[in-house]
Amino acid sequence: MAERPQFLFVTCHVGAEAALKAEIACDWPDLRFSFSRPGFVTFKLPPDHNLVGDFDLRSTFAQTYGFSLGRAHGENLQSRAAETWRILGTRPARALHVWQRDLYSAEDDRHAIQISPEAIEARNAILNSCPEDSGVAFAENGGGRANRGDFVLDCVLVEADDWWIGYHRARRAGSRVAGGLLGVAPPVPPVSRAWYKIEEALAWSGFPVPPGARFADLGCAPGGTSQALLQHGYSVLGIDPGAVSPVVLEYPNFRHVRCRAPQVRRREFRKIRWLTADMNVAPQYTLEAVESIVMHPEIRIRGMLLTLKLLEWNLAEQIPAFRRRVQEWGFNQVRTRQLGHHRQEFCLAALKKPFRR
Ligand SMILES: C[S@@+](CC[C@H](N)C(=O)[O-])C[C@H]1O[C@@H](n2cnc3c(N)ncnc32)[C@H](O)[C@@H]1O
Repeated sequence: MAERPQFLFVTCHVGAEAALKAEIACDWPDLRFSFSRPGFVTFKLPPDHNLVGDFDLRSTFAQTYGFSLGRAHGENLQSRAAETWRILGTRPARALHVWQRDLYSAEDDRHAIQISPEAIEARNAILNSCPEDSGVAFAENGGGRANRGDFVLDCVLVEADDWWIGYHRARRAGSRVAGGLLGVAPPVPPVSRAWYKIEEALAWSGFPVPPGARFADLGCAPGGTSQALLQHGYSVLGIDPGAVSPVVLEYPNFRHVRCRAPQVRRREFRKIRWLTADMNVAPQYTLEAVESIVMHPEIRIRGMLLTLKLLEWNLAEQIPAFRRRVQEWGFNQVRTRQLGHHRQEFCLAALKKPFRR
């Protein structure tokens, strides 16, 4: 008989634990909160659940999740690595993901969930101690990037000497890389942190943005989002009352409209098919500004990547209502996720599929 896991582990941003627990309590009332550390939360699963390794938790705040198998406590790196293999047993792992729980709050300059040197060291120790008779056949890169459907061995460094071992099956982009971290590296120093956020959003959403696509970027200053889009070869209409960096202004495919979003003439959007927004205002304000654009009869927006600010954590309760509101505008695929470089904010990705011009 197939084994039925008893616990689910979830990793999230430091500070997002309460929002994560609240959304799980609402969407999965049979799960019981069990153990947590900042950035790491576990839940007891009901005894008769039928969840499988690639189930969709549909969570905004989960960076990753999987079934827990046990803890490797050994007193040194080698003994913890050996314990990891013992816990895995004969399960058929195809990929190995090792990462550390988030350590920094959003206010900390070091904040941005990343694979730490400790996690790389632990991963190497696990790979080097793979028992010869384990039957594990990791993909070429040591199983760093999983293919869809792969059984992934997860190791979360909750403390330096307390590793939580678990597994999941890879499905969408975020579950195929360790910690859900969609590694993005700028070719030149970016104009702002927004560069990382939009690159992650593009990778996570998997939107079918065609070459040469036209974007409008609401709240574009100083210009990190626009810079990333321009580097992809897209055209950008940047909207912001604030000043845009000269690095961005010198792109011929960039035009700055220096005013607030509601003041832009609607005809400016006629040829625009994609929208990004990252304004330092309440989510309701962003959604109102976006609604007045996408619902205009002469405007045809196909997809949007909106950064919505959680000015207060209790705004997280309204995320399902934000998704429903955007669906009512005709976007039939709407998802939300707090991305690795986000602070107290999240991305709402919305797409019309199929798209009729
Ligand atoms: C977090 S910054 C945006 C960072 C930017 N996306 C980037 O790529 O560098 C927030 C911006 O929102 C702009 N903003 C606030 N309210 C706005 C509005 N009503 N219309 C347009 N921009 C607005 C501010 O002027 C500010 O430049």
